[in-house]
Amino acid sequence: MEKILVEKSPPLKGNVRISGAKNSALPLLAASLLGTEDIILEDVPALKDVEIMCEVLTSLGAKVEHLDRDVIKINSSNVDKYETSYELMSKMRASFLVMGPLLTRLGKTKNSLPGGCAIGTRPIDLHLKGFKALGATIDVDHGNISAYADKLVGDKIYLDFPSVGATENIMMAAVMADGDTIIDNAAMEPEIVDLSNFLNKLGADIKGAGTSTIRIKGVKHLGGARHQIIPDRIEAGTFMVAAAISGGDILVENVISNHIKPVIAKLKETGCTVIENGDSVRVIATKKLNAIDIKTLPYPGFPTDMQAQFMALMTICEGTSVAIETVFENRFMHVDELKRMGADIKIDGRSAIIQGVKNLAGAPVKASDLRAGAALVLAGLVSEGVTEIENIHHIDRGYDGIEDKFSKLGAKIYRKTF
Ligand code: EPU
Repeated sequence: MEKILVEKSPPLKGNVRISGAKNSALPLLAASLLGTEDIILEDVPALKDVEIMCEVLTSLGAKVEHLDRDVIKINSSNVDKYETSYELMSKMRASFLVMGPLLTRLGKTKNSLPGGCAIGTRPIDLHLKGFKALGATIDVDHGNISAYADKLVGDKIYLDFPSVGATENIMMAAVMADGDTIIDNAAMEPEIVDLSNFLNKLGADIKGAGTSTIRIKGVKHLGGARHQIIPDRIEAGTFMVAAAISGGDILVENVISNHIKPVIAKLKETGCTVIENGDSVRVIATKKLNAIDIKTLPYPGFPTDMQAQFMALMTICEGTSVAIETVFENRFMHVDELKRMGADIKIDGRSAIIQGVKNLAGAPVKASDLRAGAALVLAGLVSEGVTEIENIHHIDRGYDGIEDKFSKLGAKIYRKTF
C-alpha cells in the first residue's frame, strides 16, 4: 500500500507551474469521440482519471496516443462501439460523459449507472432530462442505462440546477442534433467555456457558454482540432492555500486569475497579500490569519472543490470560521480526519463551525476523496510530527505530481510503499 507522509515543513517558498485542468480534460476527451479527424490536446494533466478516460475511449474504438507527457492525440474515425464496461464506469464517475457524444454520433449508448460516491448520492436525472428533451428514449435495466434515438432534434432545456456534468453532456449531445438547442440555467464554469471553444474548433456552432443560456445550432459533422486545455483553477487554489497555511510566499504560474476570484478574495480576507500579474498569482502569507466564512456555490461562487482545502486553513485561523456546503450534500468527510489532527470543528447540517487552534498534530489519516486528500496534505505541512495519509489513490486522481511540486517549494513530503 502506498501512503503520502507529510512532516511539519518550513514556510513554502518558490514557483509552481499549474497543470491543465482535470475537469476540462475529462469532458474534452469525451468530446473527442465526436470528431472524425485527428484531435490533439495539449496540457493534459498526467492523472489517473485521464488514464481511465483514455481507456474508455480506446474501448469504444478510438485511437489514443501520447505524443508527449502532456500531449494526447485522439482519432475517433473508427468509433463504432456504444457500450462502456461496468469495470471502467465504476472506476470513474466522469466516464458517464461519453453518453452525450455516443448518443449523437451513433444514435445509441449503453452504460452502467454511476453509483454514489463519498461526496453524495450524485444523481444523473438532469443529464437524462436533457437527452429526453432532444428526443432520446431512456431505459434502465439491471443497473445499466441506455439511451437511443433515430434522430435527435434540438429543444429548449431548463436545468433545475446548473449541473456541470449535465450541461456538458447535453451540449455534446446537441451539437449534431437537428436544429437549435437552448440550455437555460446552464452551468457557467470555465470548464464549460473550454468545452464550447473546443467543440467550436471541431466545427460546432455554440454560443453563450459562460453565461446561463447556451445556444447550440446543430451541425452535420465535426472534424479535428488542436487545443490547449485551460489551467486547473483548483490545483492553483490548493497551492495558494499552501502559501497561506505554511506562512510562505509562492508564485503560482499558469493561472487565469479571473477563474479564481473567490479564492483570491477569501485569502485576502485572512490577511494574506495576493498579487495578480498576467498569468501568475503570488500569495504572501501573513503572520496572523483571520477567521473567514465561506459558502460554496456554482461558478462564479466559491468552488466546492476548494472547501476542504480552505477548511484545513481555517483550523489554524484566529477565531471562529464557518464553511457552508450547498453544492454536495455530504462533502464533510475530511472533518473527522482533521479532528484527529487536533482541529476543533463542529458540523451542523450543511455548516461546519471551525474554531481556530494554535497547533495541529500529525496523525495517521485517510483521504476520503480527492479534495479531502489535498486538505490533509495542507494540514500536514503545519502539524507537529508526521501525518501519514492513506487512500492516496484519490489524490492521484486529480493532482499531477503532487509530492514533486510540494517538495520543490520546500515541503517535507514523501511517498512510501508499505
Ligand atoms: N445533480 C443532480 N442531478 C444531476 C446532476 C447533478 O441533482 O443530474 C446535483 C449533484 O448531486 C450535486 C450538484 O448537482 O449535488 C452538482 O453536481 P454537478 O453535476 O455540477 O457536478 P459534476 O458534474 O458531477 C463536476 C466536477 C466536480 C465538481 C462539480 C461541481 C468533473 C469531472 N467533476 O462534477 O469535481 O465538484 O462539478 O463543481 O468535472 C473534483 O474535481 O474533486 C470534483 C468532484
